[in-house]
Amino acid sequence: MSAFGKPVDRVDGRAKVTGSAQYAVEFPVAGLAHAVIAGASIGRGRIRRIDARAAERSEGVLAVLTHENAMRLPAPSAPRSPEMRPIERALQVLQDAEVHYSGQPIAVVVADTIERAAHAASLVTAEYDSQPFVTDMEAELSSAVGVPDVAGEPPEHARGDVDRGLAAAHATIDVTYTTPPEHHNPMEMHATTAVWEGPDRLTLHDATQGVFPTRDRVASLFGLPVENVRVVAKFVGGGFGSKGSVWSHVMLAAMAARHVSRPVRLMVTRAQMFSFVGFRPRTIQRVQLGAKRSGALTAIVHEAFSQTSRLDDFVEPSTAPTKALYKCENVRTSQRVVRLDTSTPTFMRAPGESTGTFALESAMDELSYALGMDPIELRRKNHADVEPSTGKRWSSKSLEECYRRASERFHWSRRDPVPRTMRDGRLLVGLGMATATYPMHRRPASAIARLAVDGTALVLAGSQDIGPGTYTSMTQVAAGALSMPVRHVRFELGDTEMPPTPISGGSMTAASTGSAVHEACRSVIRAAIDLAVQDSGSPLFGLSRDDVIAKDGHLRAKGLRGRNEAIATLLRRNGLPFLEARADSAPGAEAEAYAMRSFGAQFCEVRVDPDLGTVRVARWVAAFATGRIINPKMARSQFRGGIVFGIGMALLEKSVMDPRNGRFVTRDLGSYHVPVNLDVPEIEVLSVEEDDPHVNPIGVKGIGEIGITGAAAAIANAVYHATGKRVRDLPITLDKLL
Ligand code: MOS
Repeated sequence: MSAFGKPVDRVDGRAKVTGSAQYAVEFPVAGLAHAVIAGASIGRGRIRRIDARAAERSEGVLAVLTHENAMRLPAPSAPRSPEMRPIERALQVLQDAEVHYSGQPIAVVVADTIERAAHAASLVTAEYDSQPFVTDMEAELSSAVGVPDVAGEPPEHARGDVDRGLAAAHATIDVTYTTPPEHHNPMEMHATTAVWEGPDRLTLHDATQGVFPTRDRVASLFGLPVENVRVVAKFVGGGFGSKGSVWSHVMLAAMAARHVSRPVRLMVTRAQMFSFVGFRPRTIQRVQLGAKRSGALTAIVHEAFSQTSRLDDFVEPSTAPTKALYKCENVRTSQRVVRLDTSTPTFMRAPGESTGTFALESAMDELSYALGMDPIELRRKNHADVEPSTGKRWSSKSLEECYRRASERFHWSRRDPVPRTMRDGRLLVGLGMATATYPMHRRPASAIARLAVDGTALVLAGSQDIGPGTYTSMTQVAAGALSMPVRHVRFELGDTEMPPTPISGGSMTAASTGSAVHEACRSVIRAAIDLAVQDSGSPLFGLSRDDVIAKDGHLRAKGLRGRNEAIATLLRRNGLPFLEARADSAPGAEAEAYAMRSFGAQFCEVRVDPDLGTVRVARWVAAFATGRIINPKMARSQFRGGIVFGIGMALLEKSVMDPRNGRFVTRDLGSYHVPVNLDVPEIEVLSVEEDDPHVNPIGVKGIGEIGITGAAAAIANAVYHATGKRVRDLPITLDKLL
């Protein structure tokens, strides 16, 4: 009966396909001007002279802002917030002549059309005093430092004695894996429309994964009270982590709008997506494993390095899954950052868990060969019945069921374990598998639920929908909690005037905002029941509130036929246009008592051309256990999207930097390759539903990111099985197989 769990069509599907859904650059604003950023052409140094005269004289140009004439921002003050990096230092744009990295904004041109602004931006020239800069991570490894990650986790973790564990092992491996810088490429580029009302009230239509953190950060940077800044994001065309931070273009749009006293729209170009809005950092990861003949792990060592900028310490927490995945007494992990003269890297889908599972799950495969053991069997042997780093009980865990169901469906038993033995004509066939995992994140969130006299409901939560279908899933959660049909429920989001919610990142929206929506809806139903049982005009008058339930927009006495009343009738008789409740929802004691994670199993088959070294993914079966599923159709789409991301990570994606100028030369989708339809096979996703009473009020763990975890390792393992070649450096391109 409940809308929860049904494959409901997207409630905003029509708006999206008809174009009526409004994205950040699509809000009609009177008097709009357009801004385009000009970037530095050196890797590091100082601007000696900047020449904006030609740009200023260019047709339609309203202003050119540089460090010489841009408004002064108050000195950085606010502490780092756990979400919303980079720190304020990187957002002090146009405040001085320093150039910290190639492509750093050095001017913003405002004109009456975007074409005129773009042309004028090309006319801005600068002379520099260049300084030496370093972009080679390997060369700087000795300067690596350990800093806490964004969640505050310390850089080191140790339990037991890994030297003893390695000495006691029957088989050991000691290998190093590397992953390149990667760039997110959401369909919608980063974009902001900035509208000032007077000198101290700002509204931003921003393509962001977090309206509230954006509001707070921008307010702090301009020295404004938060209530003076409003951030609106009704639709966001993908984020994948890149829109989880405020970047300099947001500041530049607002500064430009104030400078010209007109609303200003700024959309980052596709090429600039590779310059100053974050990327997944390069990682170098050494993994040592030791195991007994039985397969039992005796030691795990995982030392990860990732690159960061000199402006901010962003840590790619690659060792996070290693701490949590397998039962092992002797474990040591460390993650260090290498500071380089580049822009600041950032979160990219399953930060840490994606790169970390590539290393760990490749290493487990290597160990399985060293032991002569089936790779699933090796993982089962080391199944962690409790969270291995804390000893806490899992709120729920169905990993073994994922292995079982996915391997059966995939027909793993048909695999001949000897590499390079399976063929399809002249093509080599390889079958590989890996474990997937992602933590359950939940943060405080609020929501308002309103029952209206016309029999409908309106539910509000600030939030944002970056593409997974938050409008739809929250409508379903609300409809379920209200016991109303989906078509009578409207859910609104994307505005800091609505109740606060966390960022759409860390796969936490359903668990956080969903719990608030659920609680607000349950609360407003309780208010309606209270009203009815105290209302002498109601057929439910005098009943105990516990004897009344809500169903299909009605309140009914349990077990008593006939004693029921439509909520709309109740409100009308009481002269109420609506009944409203707010919930402020937050994790409680359960968060301390239990370890909470999602798990899954990835299985894939590849075909490798032995002459050309080309790899095709031919088949994919995955099973995921992520608590309850709100909408199986949208969930499948999220899991598949994550796996497609993993195919890109394994085979295609790599950002290449020119060491001579510190610039990424892959600056478009012709040179930076993401998977296209022909790269993606039919992906079969099995959902292992879990009834988890501990995790949060609606029993969901989040599904946005787990799909990419383990995916690159499953492909690398399949490529090894096909060819006998172990590729430890992503992406697996044909040159590495010839
Ligand atoms: Mo996701 S990389 O936490 O936005």
